[in-house]
Amino acid sequence: MAKPKSIYICSQCGFETTKWNGRCPDCGEWNTLEEGVAPSVSPSSGKARQRSTRDLSSAIVGIGSVDARHDEVRYSTGLSELDRVLGGGAVKGSLVLLGGEPGIGKSTMLLQICQFLGEDHTILYVSGEESARQIKLRASRLGVDSENLYLLAENDCEAICDVVVKEKPEIVIIDSIQTMSIQGLSSATGSVTQVRECTNLFMCTAKSEEIPFFIVGHVNKDGAIAGPKVMEHIVDAVLYFEGQRNLSYRILRAVKNRFGSTNEIGVFEMQDKGLAQVENPSQLLLAGRPTDVSGCCVACVMEGSRPILAEVQALVSKSVFASPRRTADGFDYNRLYLIIAVLEKRLGFFFGGLDVYLNVVGGMKLDEPAADLSIALALYSSVRDKVVDEKTIAFGEIGLGGELRAISFAEQRIREAERMGFEKCILPAQSLSSVDRSRFGIKLIGVKNLRQAFDALEKK
Ligand code: TYD
Ligand code: MG
Repeated sequence: MAKPKSIYICSQCGFETTKWNGRCPDCGEWNTLEEGVAPSVSPSSGKARQRSTRDLSSAIVGIGSVDARHDEVRYSTGLSELDRVLGGGAVKGSLVLLGGEPGIGKSTMLLQICQFLGEDHTILYVSGEESARQIKLRASRLGVDSENLYLLAENDCEAICDVVVKEKPEIVIIDSIQTMSIQGLSSATGSVTQVRECTNLFMCTAKSEEIPFFIVGHVNKDGAIAGPKVMEHIVDAVLYFEGQRNLSYRILRAVKNRFGSTNEIGVFEMQDKGLAQVENPSQLLLAGRPTDVSGCCVACVMEGSRPILAEVQALVSKSVFASPRRTADGFDYNRLYLIIAVLEKRLGFFFGGLDVYLNVVGGMKLDEPAADLSIALALYSSVRDKVVDEKTIAFGEIGLGGELRAISFAEQRIREAERMGFEKCILPAQSLSSVDRSRFGIKLIGVKNLRQAFDALEKK
């Protein structure tokens, strides 16, 4: 028998090559090629492929004759924020990957949902990281004591799949994929080959037994799930749990979902008794903001179908450097430059000798053009040292001519601003024309360009 051929796989991008290199030829990362074994290839594959003798004509079906009378079964997790991101709960037989940096709260979240899921379903929680005792200690802190929750501290992937087939739990949780391994493979636990093969095996079990699997995947410092893209295309849904270590709230996003939209986000707060849902993120983000300081303005961005308000702070001060400093936290750096250029060219403000520091409070990222206007107003407020009224909110996209362009979801944004107690809303005139004014009690000011927006700040 021919000796299995070695191949080298990049742990960053999944690139495969037969020759070892110090640097991956595909993604350019250094020292990421790991040895793996190439799948055995049949001797005939090098020559002309032989025709298959199987006749598949009878397997072809018309879409109308496929039996789909049973609706897809979804398990609600008890956390409505998580259900929303999943598209209404976990689908039977699906494989959900929950990615995030170590310590962000993945294990905590999955253990927490066991309490609700355990009321009606049996759950097998497999951990390759913690012992059953450690999980029990954490569970009691989180108030999880469901009788239907079974623990297994194991990292042999094949043995786990066998026990799942035998015991037939209704839901399986694997924590984490990087600790799972298949004994027959020569590569080390956590390597690309192991991660990929283990995911494949779990996928087969999930589909054949119709059991939903939740799999934890750690994200390395570069933001890729270790054993990276190789996993994402196999699983049904990829959720990322994001947040900053020094801030208590976390955002859950779907980057892929075969059973729902990828626009939705879920917001959680890490407390001493586990994760709590944040149903009103705007309130959390605006809490304790200063009301009599120049350079602050509130923005409204859409996260999926939800409008979220966040505070923008700008500080413009005299520079002591030859080339002034510009920093942007939570906002695109290049877009800040663009807005500064528009302010200089179209409105005659001069930022030449001034440092500009921009910060979006609470670690939110404003990556929607609708945030432009509030950034410009915050800069204006800081340069002129004029306080923007605390009950004023603004949104709109800025064009290179200094004009304000229409934005989508104007009504939803206005409603959220009104709900949060704002009294004045500055928005592009074009967006205002499509809004039914009579439905809102908040004062709406439509503006065509930045000059009008600055004037609108003074209006009572
Ligand atoms: P964990 O779920 O273990 O992270 P992951 O599985 O993503 O690596 O979360 C650990 C962090 O969460 C840890 O820094 C402590 C914090 N934490 C709390 O603040 N409160 C709690 O009730 C729990 C269980 C954890
Ligand atoms: Mg963990």
